[in-house]
Formats: sequence, structure tokens, C-alpha cells
Amino acid sequence: MLTRRLSLGTLPTPVEPLQRLSEQLNGPPLWIKRDDLTGLALGGNKTRKLEYILCDAMDIKADCIITAGAIQSNHCRQTAAAAAKLGLECHLVLGGQAPEHCNGNLLLDQLFNARVHWAGEKRKGEDIPELVKQLKAQGKTPFVVPYGGSNVSGALGYVNAMSELQQQCTEPFSHIVFASASGGTHAGMLNGAKLCNMQTQIWGIRIDKSESEGQSFAQRVLELTNDTAKHLGLSSFATEAVHLNADYLGGGYAVVGEAERHAIKTLAQVEGILLDPVYTGRAFAGLLDLYRQGAFAADDKVLFWHTGGSPALFAYNDSLV
Ligand SMILES: Cc1ncc(COP(=O)(O)O)c(C=O)c1O
Repeated sequence: MLTRRLSLGTLPTPVEPLQRLSEQLNGPPLWIKRDDLTGLALGGNKTRKLEYILCDAMDIKADCIITAGAIQSNHCRQTAAAAAKLGLECHLVLGGQAPEHCNGNLLLDQLFNARVHWAGEKRKGEDIPELVKQLKAQGKTPFVVPYGGSNVSGALGYVNAMSELQQQCTEPFSHIVFASASGGTHAGMLNGAKLCNMQTQIWGIRIDKSESEGQSFAQRVLELTNDTAKHLGLSSFATEAVHLNADYLGGGYAVVGEAERHAIKTLAQVEGILLDPVYTGRAFAGLLDLYRQGAFAADDKVLFWHTGGSPALFAYNDSLV
């Protein structure tokens, strides 16, 4: 099940100690897993998901790929790149309206020749069924990649990533902290930890306060985690297995505030590593605050899982400097 995947990225990604930053933090050593370096179109967590999801597109002999996201969606940028690599047409249903100038991820979407459909307030693919109908009427075979690449196939990318991590480390991490937004990364990590028998505490920092279709985000993560467990033949997870921290939602989705700005500048200036304004900037701000609060014990070993997104920095120049 885990071996059926396309090769789209550059894996494994490095695991590095954040030596200078660890000396400044009041707490145990901090490490980073560099999924910003997964290689496909400037990297990010969607590479791993797409390696599995797009196998499903190949199965139905799709000739075009559709997905959705916000105007600066990393998921859409990486999907557009993967579609280009596979010779498939790509349609992106993006929230907002066509801006006067394209930059950041949106610029890259255009370079990959993605067809952009503007959806106003609707950034989670509400308009996709209509687009599917139109493409089918044109004789095409569309394949829909779910919002954020978060379905069972997408989660398998992070099941595999956990076994990659285990092979890279002699001593396990006591905590993994990362940005959780559509749930696929989280569901994959939980299953991967179970499959590898890792006793790591997995902490998702929430990025987006909006809930989907009457379900809380924690319920959504649990459901996807259990669907993935079923697919892998693993036992199911209890509600308490999903650790989500919603203390850092700040000004709302994609709003950069002082906490995100400080986190981005700290990692850039102390370690020379770029975060992104929407996801990892917020998650890293949360992690810095947890260190400040003394949330970790001296003998813990903490990993920040960098999930990418730095191309969006260029679209946030006004909020960052
Ligand atoms: C850079 C980055 N980090 C984290 C996430 C969240 O991952 P997930 O949607 O699997 O929860 C996203 C989602 O788009 C992302 O772009």
C-alpha cells in the first residue's frame, strides 16, 4: 500500500539540529525536519501527499486535474507543478479575485500553466462540482484532488514520512510540532507513529479557525486518521489521540501579526531558514511560545516539522518588513 507511489520529490529530507536557536531557548534541544526541501516546485508537504494521490488519477486515466485553495495556496502551486510534470492539464479554483499583479505562489501557478478559476469567498472548492460537469461535457476525464490534499491517499505520504524519520534518528523525538490545517499531514503522522511504534507526542498547531460542514476540526482529523488506519489494517484511534493547539489563531487565516512576523524573523536571522507567512510562521510562533511557557522538560527532544510554503513570503512583503 505504501509502495504504490509516484516519484515527484526529493526524499528523504534532512533532519537538522537548530543549534544556535536552541542555545537561546529556555528548554531542550530543538530540531527541524526540512520538508520545505521536498523539491517539487520549491518544496512543501504536498509533495508527499501528491505522490500517492496522483496514483489514483493515473488509475482512472485522468487527463486533467482540479483542485482548490486560497489565492496563495501552496497546495495549488505544488499540484500545478505535479500536473505539469505528468503532462496533465491543471485547473485551480482559487478564493478571491484576479489581482492586478501576480506574485508568490500565484505567479508560479501561471508558470506551470494552470488554468485559474476565481471563486470569490469560496476558497475550499465549493465550485468544483460545476467545473467537473463542464470538463466532462468537453469530453475530458477530470480528477479532483481534495482540498489540501487531505484524503486517505494523501495521508499515506506522511505515514511514509514517519518511517523516513525513524530511519534518520537513533533516538526518537519526544514531541513533534507542526502546522495542521486540512488534517492530512496530521492523520498520516499519527498512523505512521503507530505503524513504527514511536512514542512521540504529535502536536498540530491550528492555522485556520473555520470549521468544515458542521464538523469540528478535531473530529475531521480523527475521522481521516481512522479512515487511514482502516486502510492500513491498524487499530482505530481514540479522540484523545488527536492533539491540537488552537491558541495561536491570531487575526485569522492568512493574517500575519506580530507573533508570525517575530517567528519568521527569528528562524531566518538565527538559523538562516525561511518559514512561510500563513502556516509555518504561525506554527513556529506557537512553538516559541510553548518554549517560553516551559511546556517541555529538560530531557525532551523536540522536532519542528517544517511543511514548506516560503514562496508565499513574496506576496506578504507589506506585512513582513
Ligand atoms: C506550508 C503548509 N504547511 C502546513 C499545511 C497544513 O497541512 P495539512 O493541510 O495537511 O493540515 C499546509 C496546507 O496547505 C501548507 O501549505
